[in-house]
Amino acid sequence: MEKKPQTILFLLLVFSFGAAQNSTARKVEEFHVGVILDLGSLVGKVSRTSISLAVEDFYSVHQNYRTKLAIHIKDSMGNEVQAASAAIDLLENYKVQAIIGPQKSSEATFISKLGSIKQVPIISFTATSPALTHDSFPYFVRATLNDSVQVNGIVSLIKAYGWREVVLVYDDTEYGRGILPHLVNALQQIDAHVPYRSAIPLSATSENIMQELYKLMAMQTRVFIVHMSSTRASLIFTKAKEAGMMDKGFVWIVTDGVANIVDSLNLSVIEAMNGVIGTRFYVPRLQEHDTSFLIRWNRMYRQFNPNELPLDKPSIFGLWAYDTVWALSQAAEKVGVSRNKNKRLQSSKNSTSLDLLAVSTDGPELLKEILHNKFRGLSGNFDLTDRQLPVYALQIINVVGRSWKHIGFWTLKNGLSRQLNQNGLKITGPASMLELNPVIWPGESTEIPRGWEIPASGDKLKVGVPTSAYPEFVQTSKDPVTNATRVVGLSIDIFEEVVKRLPFALSYEYQAFDTIDATSSTSYNDFVHQVYLQRYDIAIGDITIIYSRTPYVDFTIPYTESGVGMIVPVKETVKKNIWIFSKPLSKGMWFGSIMFTMYTTIVVWILEHLNGNTHLHGPFSLRQLEILMSFSIFEEKEKLKCILSRLVLLVWMFVFLVLASSYTASLASMLTVQQLSPMFTDIRELQKQGGYVGFHRGSYIEGLLVDIGFDRSKIRSYAPDEFRIALSNGGEHGGVAALVLDVPYIKLFLAKYCRGYTMVGPIYKSAGFAFALPKRSPLLAEISRAIINITGGDTIIQIEKKWIDQNDCQNEEKIDGSDSAITFDSFGGLFLLTGFVTTCSIPVALLMNHYKKDQQKVLTKQDEPNNQRYAQKGENSHIQDGNEGNEENGDCGDIDNQGRILVPHSPNRNGDLLGDCTQNNRVTATTHFGSDFIHMEGEASMSQSCS
Ligand SMILES: *[C@@H]1O[C@H](CO)[C@@H](O)[C@H](O)[C@H]1NC(C)=O
Ligand SMILES: *[C@@H]1O[C@H](CO)[C@@H](O)[C@H](O)[C@H]1NC(C)=O
Ligand SMILES: *[C@@H]1O[C@H](CO)[C@@H](O)[C@H](O)[C@H]1NC(C)=O
Ligand SMILES: *[C@@H]1O[C@H](CO)[C@@H](O)[C@H](O)[C@H]1NC(C)=O
Ligand SMILES: *[C@@H]1O[C@H](CO)[C@@H](O)[C@H](O)[C@H]1NC(C)=O
Repeated sequence: MEKKPQTILFLLLVFSFGAAQNSTARKVEEFHVGVILDLGSLVGKVSRTSISLAVEDFYSVHQNYRTKLAIHIKDSMGNEVQAASAAIDLLENYKVQAIIGPQKSSEATFISKLGSIKQVPIISFTATSPALTHDSFPYFVRATLNDSVQVNGIVSLIKAYGWREVVLVYDDTEYGRGILPHLVNALQQIDAHVPYRSAIPLSATSENIMQELYKLMAMQTRVFIVHMSSTRASLIFTKAKEAGMMDKGFVWIVTDGVANIVDSLNLSVIEAMNGVIGTRFYVPRLQEHDTSFLIRWNRMYRQFNPNELPLDKPSIFGLWAYDTVWALSQAAEKVGVSRNKNKRLQSSKNSTSLDLLAVSTDGPELLKEILHNKFRGLSGNFDLTDRQLPVYALQIINVVGRSWKHIGFWTLKNGLSRQLNQNGLKITGPASMLELNPVIWPGESTEIPRGWEIPASGDKLKVGVPTSAYPEFVQTSKDPVTNATRVVGLSIDIFEEVVKRLPFALSYEYQAFDTIDATSSTSYNDFVHQVYLQRYDIAIGDITIIYSRTPYVDFTIPYTESGVGMIVPVKETVKKNIWIFSKPLSKGMWFGSIMFTMYTTIVVWILEHLNGNTHLHGPFSLRQLEILMSFSIFEEKEKLKCILSRLVLLVWMFVFLVLASSYTASLASMLTVQQLSPMFTDIRELQKQGGYVGFHRGSYIEGLLVDIGFDRSKIRSYAPDEFRIALSNGGEHGGVAALVLDVPYIKLFLAKYCRGYTMVGPIYKSAGFAFALPKRSPLLAEISRAIINITGGDTIIQIEKKWIDQNDCQNEEKIDGSDSAITFDSFGGLFLLTGFVTTCSIPVALLMNHYKKDQQKVLTKQDEPNNQRYAQKGENSHIQDGNEGNEENGDCGDIDNQGRILVPHSPNRNGDLLGDCTQNNRVTATTHFGSDFIHMEGEASMSQSCS
């Protein structure tokens, strides 16, 4: 078995190098290089093809080189011991100066150690395990990237798709385990949880794998990261397909081990893998002139593997193998073939063959040359300065149909993106799901899987329910016949609404939490602890979010109001003080009323002045003000001559009447209605006075009260049905002055007994009532979202109405003196009215006056003799004249009269009378006004007669 492939190999090598060897006349020295591959594996076959092709290509380009690689290929058969013995064989019998390979990380450990001792560079383009560090293995060079690079890419994907839990499935080998610490660390950084790691031993049979898969299926996590060699991953996916784990809802992510060679996998495997996503090392597309390379490569592959199906192109490993050979050939040329060829040490009986292996004298120099040799190879920039290739980009792929499609890129600098630009910089914005092409998930689904599932095993969600001291929140009972748990209450209604809103079906069953003392919060601690102990999947009820409970469970967001408040009896107060008369009107109203009174007064004065009211003639004086005030407040319209000012006053009187009656009503109510106010509004006040305070027995509020500074002797605990009595007894008679409770409980209490009590506060913050779930439960976010939907809408109001009946107390509004005062705004319309009328009256009056003056001028010119006559006559008999002049006139604002004024030329007697009257008034005023008040009264009747 072992000899056959070796002899074939040897013949092939002789065949491939023979031609080149005699073509050069110069002496060419052979530089021996060992290759250790698992020739049974796909990667092994591809690599061997590439290595052979590389040697051929390199020396056809560099024909004048003094050295020439002599390649000695050994098959490790995927076995560490075989690989180790091959390495020793190569070192001992072939005197190799460098080793390419080994293929597997587990094989690399021993060989690298050996290489480091004997100073022989070991260059592997497949061993990606980060456990192989150059500190422990100075002669180990990684012509690939270590796995910790792709960890970040995978974790970015998990973050972008919002998965919170991930199960790792890996080969239980050096390679499989190598990635674990890095992956788990990175997942921890994004707060993703690894509930289970599934290590698949190499010895696992199909049955074992099937069993393991069923186990995974029973868990709620649906995101699997598979880090395995391609052969074993093929088996896993084929089996997973059988087990129904390649259906909708599952997420499978493969690491580069599989993704890099996905093109070369069997079709049946690819079909089973449909929907899988993975990260692979990105190779920029091969250049045009590389088509000849592909043709030659394929020809050679067929030559080596006549019985295999042909491949389109080498995988990334094939390219790296090719580039590695080029790098090594160049280094070999620089170093040359060492003269004292690794001489065997003196033989002695004591030594094993390992001890006899010589240390390579050229080793350090060769290593240096390999590390410093940078060139542009088929796989991109080939630069081993960091003892591994530089990180360029990872490509994210999705297995679809019989091939795969591109989803996006991941780069160290820019994270996830759909495309790379020339410089490898990201074109698009920051990483998010939308930055990636859409994925076709297992089961041909385009919907992004949630990443978890309620266990598919058909178990119902166990919902723990306590019996609350407040039956409105939750009450449990047992059906005497069927033993079924019956639960009712506000919390239950909310939970059932939540379940309706979940984006998936959830079957559940209630389980009553039986406890001796349901009223105590210590029993609630026990209850919540049952979730931690996995007796319940969720605990619902009036569970307060308390810090001390948070290490064991996660709370949803609260579904009630939060806060701690105080129930305090109210006392009746009537605010009687000497200034109460000013209370019914607000300050603005007082100010506004006074301003409008003054404004109206002034306008009326102006109107009357324009009109020549005899009472108001002359300069503005206190007395005139007095008269006007009395005009505007009391209806002394008789004294006003002008119809416009009467109109103004009429409107003002209306406003004044409304204002006065409102004022009276408001003042009356203030004096008679009792006002309720809490006995005290500050808990510290109560504490200083040494009052008693109560709380719900067993509640965490006790600690709060002690913190405030209450003496323990001043704190009394009660059951909910004792609250009322305790409060009505008061502190002196064995009761309490106030009760400190969570706000939802206060609402409940006040709904029952609203008369005589009120709530003060919230005095402290608290988080409210919520449901408790196991830590990191994926349900948490979904339930919290549903609760927000409920509390943000009408549903919560309906539920609260159902359980907290507030019918009795709906109209009990607190009356507050300041709130009930009449404000300026409430009279705005009226003030607008009076203001408008008053303001408009002035221009109208001025206009009238103007016409009248014109009219008079005309009259004066035409009827001068008459006027004189009338004037003389009027002096004696103006009263009669006024009586005669009567109805028709009214000087300002009367449109009808204007009509008459417009026909002054006619020898109409009315027109004459009008002129006469005006004249009279003026004369009278100049003669008598101001000389005698009594006389003025007399004159008033005259003016009336005239207007
Ligand atoms: C190389 O060797 C072959 C036989 O192996 C011979 O026919 C050929 O002439 C040789 N070429 C040179 C350049 O020596
Ligand atoms: C793996 O690669 C990363 C990125 O280049 C590097 O920072 C890290 O040191 C490497 N780890 C090992 C063990 O080589
Ligand atoms: C053989 O090994 C023993 C112990 O390691 C040592 O004492 C002895 O000298 C060795 N003999 C030779 C010939 O090297
Ligand atoms: C109900 O429970 C009681 C006590 O746990 C048990 O004896 C009885 O058989 C149960 N009845 C049913 C119908 O399960
Ligand atoms: C609750 O969810 C429904 C359905 O998604 C939505 O239409 C509604 O606006 C949400 N209500 C609130 C208050 O968020």
